[in-house]
Amino acid sequence: MAMSLSIAASGKGGVGKSTLCALLVRYFIEMGKKPVLAVDGDPNSSLGALLGMEPERKIGDLREDINDPANTPSGVPKARVLEGKLNEIIQEGRGFDLLTMGRGEGPGCYCYVNDLLRQFLSRLKKSYSVVVIDNEAGMEHLSRLTTDNVDCLIVVSEPTTPSVRTAERILELADSLPAKIGRKAMVFNKVRNSRVADIVLERAQNLPVSANIQLSHSPELEELGERGGSVFELPGKLEDNPQLTRIVEWCLDGDNH
Ligand SMILES: Nc1ncnc2c1ncn2[C@@H]1O[C@H](COP(=O)(O)OP(=O)(O)OP(=O)(O)O)[C@@H](O)[C@H]1O
Ligand SMILES: [Mg+2]
Repeated sequence: MAMSLSIAASGKGGVGKSTLCALLVRYFIEMGKKPVLAVDGDPNSSLGALLGMEPERKIGDLREDINDPANTPSGVPKARVLEGKLNEIIQEGRGFDLLTMGRGEGPGCYCYVNDLLRQFLSRLKKSYSVVVIDNEAGMEHLSRLTTDNVDCLIVVSEPTTPSVRTAERILELADSLPAKIGRKAMVFNKVRNSRVADIVLERAQNLPVSANIQLSHSPELEELGERGGSVFELPGKLEDNPQLTRIVEWCLDGDNH
């Protein structure tokens, strides 16, 4: 079986990480790279809705359950209890599965449970052609569970100075992590023609990434976000969008773009 490709998005709040992840999931399905695993790593869980699904079951709740000694019958290894429940958390969509991480850790020690989760996730990934991981805003997640060893890190930014500053910090942090990150790209989202945006984008040419791709501001995507709709409602084929196509091609074959 072919190796699965893992892609994670990161960036400042509201720049369009979840929207881009959902678009990528649909794009990969349309091009036949199925099944796709969509991982919603944001405690506020918005990727599911963008894929037309209601997240019902979450890893976070399970983690709390397992960690509470009252919930694990004595004599049954935690690993076994966890394994059994984890498979029920995955929700099936059309051409993809959704895995919702949910809330983060409460007080207490979760090393053991997180260790088991990490092992489970890396095994799980192998049954998918592509894994797309949406993250919460900021950088914390980079040192956590969902983003260890990704092939592609997409740092999403709006063409504004504050957003680029966050992107720069994420790129720096990514270099200092023990987790392996195969390649990094900048995606400038919601780009409109303006003098300020041009200056910001010009300066961003020097960022240490192997691709620097723009995604225009789109009234359809804006409306979709306002309405809370799913990307599967967008008309046409996503491969007709040359900007998205560039992003996907970079993901599939980073060295040639
Ligand atoms: N290219 C685009 N053109 C217009 N609007 C867009 C575009 N991309 C995303 N948006 C809109 O921007 C808003 C934020 O998008 P999204 O929720 O994907 O960002 P996010 O980075 O995941 O945010 P958060 O940090 O809260 O998770 C949404 O309303 C979405 O519809
Ligand atoms: Mg989001």
